[in-house]
Amino acid sequence: EEDFQTFFHGEDYHIRLPSLALEVTFRNRSSPRSGDVFLMRGGIVVNSRAKLNSRLSHLIIDAVDEGDEGVYTVKNPETLQDVQRTTLIVRDCSNELIVKYGEHFNIPLLGLTPPITLEYRPSAVEANQTSRPALMLLTSTGMSRDGYQGRISVSERHASLSVVSGADEGSYTVRDAEGVIQRKVCLNVKEHQNFVKLHRGKTLKIHLILNSSLVHLYYTSDYDHTPHLLLDKGEFTSAQADLGFEERLYMDGSWIFLDQVKPSDVGEFKVTDILGFTVSTTHLGLLRKEDWDVADKERLKN
Ligand SMILES: *[C@@H]1O[C@H](CO)[C@@H](O)[C@H](O)[C@H]1NC(C)=O
Ligand SMILES: *[C@@H]1O[C@H](CO)[C@@H](O)[C@H](O)[C@H]1NC(C)=O
Ligand SMILES: *[C@@H]1O[C@H](CO)[C@@H](O)[C@H](O)[C@H]1NC(C)=O
Repeated sequence: EEDFQTFFHGEDYHIRLPSLALEVTFRNRSSPRSGDVFLMRGGIVVNSRAKLNSRLSHLIIDAVDEGDEGVYTVKNPETLQDVQRTTLIVRDCSNELIVKYGEHFNIPLLGLTPPITLEYRPSAVEANQTSRPALMLLTSTGMSRDGYQGRISVSERHASLSVVSGADEGSYTVRDAEGVIQRKVCLNVKEHQNFVKLHRGKTLKIHLILNSSLVHLYYTSDYDHTPHLLLDKGEFTSAQADLGFEERLYMDGSWIFLDQVKPSDVGEFKVTDILGFTVSTTHLGLLRKEDWDVADKERLKN
């Protein structure tokens, strides 16, 4: 039998022991050359990382971290056969913060004494290869990694990463001056969702959040459900004329405007970045005549 188990950083891993006569070994994913080391043999725990529970039914690895990733084998020494072989994967992301695209990601530092270091693992690595070395974003001397200059700031309260994008998703580790892990926080970047209801003839405004040269804008009508590319890295495409937006759609800085909205415009405007992450979606609806009447009556009453 062989299986994979995923645990969050800090959880306890329990290895079932059908009998105390079994042997348990561990092959460390971070140092595979050291081979299989014994955790338990001859009914005795022989490694400080493991302990037996009081009912002697399980071997426990307390508060797992990256160093515990690897293969755990329970073997019957009499038959030399594997009873159970489990690959343990340790994930960082038990503690997740959701930040909207383009906003600041603040990692709390209260109670920590500087200097600190900040490390990062992209989501794909965090999910199943946590033992891979992380990228150093900020060193204890305050140097930030290439591509992060000007984006990271540290105060007494927070380490802050500005203007987050989908590419920043993953886990962030704060260590103190001794190299001890003090915080682990994962970042989940969410798109902005806007529901806009306008009167016929009004203007729809969409903020691109990023420089227009870094985005795509797609439009999907409620009537045909096919996405059309309207803006390609800052340039309007010919689709806008086919969709009847010509002369009504324009850009000013990082804002897009659609003038004179009408019932056939109803649909979704989606902004994506150059890596394909969604920055925002704006659902355009039109206020119906009845809604106007209600609004007018309210106004008359007051
Ligand atoms: C696995 O190897 C890493 C790197 O050498 C080490 O830090 C960690 O403590 C080892 N894990 C165990 C359980 O011995
Ligand atoms: C890790 O997960 C990613 C995404 O699910 C997958 O593509 C990749 O093959 C996995 N890698 C390993 C070593 O399991
Ligand atoms: C947007 O990017 C272009 C090309 O890189 C640059 O020339 C322009 O100044 C940028 N605009 C803003 C508002 O940052």
